[in-house]
Amino acid sequence: MRLGIISALHEEQQGLIEAMQGPVSHSHGMREYTLGTLWEIDAVCVLSRIGKVAAAMTASILVEKYGVTHIVFTGVAGSGDPKVNVGDIVVAESLLQHDMDASPLFPRFEVPLTGLQRFGSDLVLSEALAGAAEQFLRQQAEKPADSALEIEGFGLQHARVHRGMIASGDQFISSAAHLRQLKQDLPDLLAVEMEGAAVAQVCFELGVPFTVMRTISDNANEEAAVDFMRFVQTVASRYAFGVVKNLCQRLAA
Ligand code: ADE
Repeated sequence: MRLGIISALHEEQQGLIEAMQGPVSHSHGMREYTLGTLWEIDAVCVLSRIGKVAAAMTASILVEKYGVTHIVFTGVAGSGDPKVNVGDIVVAESLLQHDMDASPLFPRFEVPLTGLQRFGSDLVLSEALAGAAEQFLRQQAEKPADSALEIEGFGLQHARVHRGMIASGDQFISSAAHLRQLKQDLPDLLAVEMEGAAVAQVCFELGVPFTVMRTISDNANEEAAVDFMRFVQTVASRYAFGVVKNLCQRLAA
């Protein structure tokens, strides 16, 4: 196995790259690919940049140029459901491109010529990732209260892991009305972000198993931009590091 680890945020990869054994960095196409070993797993870390095209390019290069056999994506997302709270983790069972609409030629949301609206994540990888996420939240809960996070008031001691559908689009959703519209069309939506379903399509077309984890940073409403920035700066990085560490240890076992 060679695991491609794609993150959306610089803050999420910093710790992973510091933890890497024998890291070697390559620049290609406006990205840094760092190859090395993470907790016994042969890994390649890279930032996707933002949006579906950026994520699709990153995933393709990881497979075609760096020979990864599996991909995991880590990032943050807006909540797409009232039971999914800031600080929770969503592990994708399926991903959909919510801004894809080639109707009336193809049904709304269907990616033309694939016959699919939803791309399923790999069951084995997703099971391992969800286990790693549950383990991380237990580890956090057992720790003495972290004053920095307490002060920020994120209420993370109640954080949970959810599994289900994540929708991606080239839009930062920051309007309750917009989210309501999406939810009406996609009742099982759990989270909204900007890259996952693009990685999912590339992996589907190339036959590469993948999974996606998203930590909820905001409620995709009018406060989303402020909450997103605050969350990214304080907690996103430790979530990505902790969950990927647990995941690699599970995959190596
Ligand atoms: N990533 C984090 N929050 C998001 C939001 N509200 N919309 C799209 N992508 C996001």
